[in-house]
Amino acid sequence: MAAHTDPDRYDEVAETFDRYSERTGGPLTECFVEMTEMRAGLHTLDVACGSGIATRRAAEAVGPNGRTVGIDLSPGQVRVARSRGPDRIEYIVMDAMSLDFPDRSFDVVTARYPHFPGRAGALREIARVLRPAGRIAICHGGGGPPRWPLAARAAADEPPAEASVDNLFLSLMGERFPELTGARAGNAPASSVDPSTALADDLRDTGMNDIALWSFSYRSPFRSAADAWQWEVVRHSAYRMAAHTLSEADVAGFRSAYHARAEAILAEHGVLSMGTGAMFGVATRR
Ligand SMILES: C[S@@+](CC[C@H](N)C(=O)[O-])C[C@H]1O[C@@H](n2cnc3c(N)ncnc32)[C@H](O)[C@@H]1O
Repeated sequence: MAAHTDPDRYDEVAETFDRYSERTGGPLTECFVEMTEMRAGLHTLDVACGSGIATRRAAEAVGPNGRTVGIDLSPGQVRVARSRGPDRIEYIVMDAMSLDFPDRSFDVVTARYPHFPGRAGALREIARVLRPAGRIAICHGGGGPPRWPLAARAAADEPPAEASVDNLFLSLMGERFPELTGARAGNAPASSVDPSTALADDLRDTGMNDIALWSFSYRSPFRSAADAWQWEVVRHSAYRMAAHTLSEADVAGFRSAYHARAEAILAEHGVLSMGTGAMFGVATRR
């Protein structure tokens, strides 16, 4: 594997990634459970599972008589996922582009913000390991299509949009490091056409049926600028992967500009509000 591919870089931040994705990622994971109609006894696979946030929820939904597997190319992410348990989840370091499972092994496959070298190839592998009538739900950042009518209870402490720090990190990054703007994370899928059309096309090309596109978005509270900054530097893979090429002074300047703006918002609203948005593709294997 080449140095500085996306999974390599997740190895270094796996614990932090886990802490923040656990804190901010729950609603999307609930969407997966509902969209794929996960229930006791099913066999599920979470592809590019990271530290296992969606995998753990799947294990809960299918119960001890089901089977839950999570695969990721980053050994660091898999190590953290295993440390979170429960032991009945099988976590395996594996490339999504070449799944080491027999055909028709799973009833449900999920992929939450996966980074693949090529999504079409990964979806072909996913279709191969799904049983007929098995369900897939995949999500990437974004929005657009109709909002999934989530039945699970929403977080009670959703902060107001007025306290938003959305785009603050990326706009400051664009001002200071224009060369990073538009840079893709090591293995992130390229999208040259409308992202939801591209996702539906990729699902259709693997022979999936009942293709539906959904979105879901919500806000998470952050109580300090340092806390929000920490999650931004971990979740923006393109910045994280390029940070070692930037001078310490430039990084320090970026951090203090972010802190100054975020602290002004915090002083006015008493909270910082960070949006999470996802575009989902849901389909059934023929
Ligand atoms: C944004 S993270 C999402 C992790 C997790 N699904 C979540 O939602 O918290 C992207 C993940 O894709 C993994 N990844 C990148 N390329 C991969 C590949 N070819 N096969 C499997 N996993 C891959 C990375 O290691 C990383 O854990």
